[in-house]
Amino acid sequence: MTTTRGLRDRDEPFTMLTAYDAPTAAIVDEAGIDVILVGDSMGNATLGYESTLPVTMADVKSRTAAVARAVEDALVVADLPFLAFGVDEAESIHNAGTLLKEADADAVKIESGPHTVETTRRMTELGIPVMAHLGLTPQHLNRLGGYTRQGTDREAAEEIRELARAHEEAGAFALVLEHVPANLAAAVTDDLEIPTVGIGAGGDCDGQVLVITDVVGLGDWSPPFAERFGDVRGEMRRAVDEYKKAVESGAFPAEEHQHVEEDLEERY
Ligand code: KIV
Ligand code: NA
Repeated sequence: MTTTRGLRDRDEPFTMLTAYDAPTAAIVDEAGIDVILVGDSMGNATLGYESTLPVTMADVKSRTAAVARAVEDALVVADLPFLAFGVDEAESIHNAGTLLKEADADAVKIESGPHTVETTRRMTELGIPVMAHLGLTPQHLNRLGGYTRQGTDREAAEEIRELARAHEEAGAFALVLEHVPANLAAAVTDDLEIPTVGIGAGGDCDGQVLVITDVVGLGDWSPPFAERFGDVRGEMRRAVDEYKKAVESGAFPAEEHQHVEEDLEERY
C-alpha cells in the first residue's frame, strides 16, 4: 500500500499516472504504479471538452469512487476541479472532504497559487492530505493564454520556488511541477523535503506523472513532453472494425454465442 509518507526517500523515481475508470485503474494498480491521480484532465482525456474548466465535482466524485473501488495498492489522489476550491474556504474544505468521505480518495490535489497556502494548511489540519501543483496550471488557461512553459525567467522561477516552500510549510505532502524548465524543477526538488512529481519538468524530480491516455496512445493529441508507450487507439479501432465486419457478414453471432430452446417451436 502506498501512503502519503511512503513516497519519500526512494532509491528510484516513483510513478504516478491518471485513471478515470475502474478497469483502467485496475491495470495501472496491478502494474505497481505508486499513485493514481483522478485528474481533471478527464475533461480533455475522456469527457470530450477542450479544457479542464467544465469538469464538475460530480464528475470527479463519481470517477474517483470508480477508481477507488478497483485499486488495492496505489495511493488514490482526486483533483479538485475549477472553482471547487478557492472561492470560499468552507466550500473548498467541504468539497475536498467529500472526495475522501464519499468517494474514498486518499488525498486531494489542488492547482496552487498564493491563494491556496492557507487552504492547504486548513485541509491538512483537518486530515485531508494535499498534493500541491505549480508551474503550468491548466485551470488558468484563460489567464495564461495557452498551455505554455512556466517559470522561464528569473522572477517567475523565484515565485515558483517561494510558493513551493510555502506549500510545503503549509503541510502539502507532495508537489506536482508541470511544464517548467528542468533546472528549475531540480532546484525546487533540492529546496524541499516533500517529494516533487514532474510532468514536462525534467528527470530530477522525485517522481514522474503522465496522463494515461497519452501513455497508452488512446488520445488523438498529446503534449510534446509526453511519450506514447502503446497504440490502444489502433487496437480499439481494429477490434471495432472486426466486429462490424463479422456482424455484416453474418459470422457473428456464431453457434457458440446463441442458444436455441428445444421446447419451443421453430421461430417462436
Ligand atoms: O489533471 C491531471 O491529469 C493533472 C496532472 C497532469 C498532474 O493535473
Ligand atoms: Na489537473
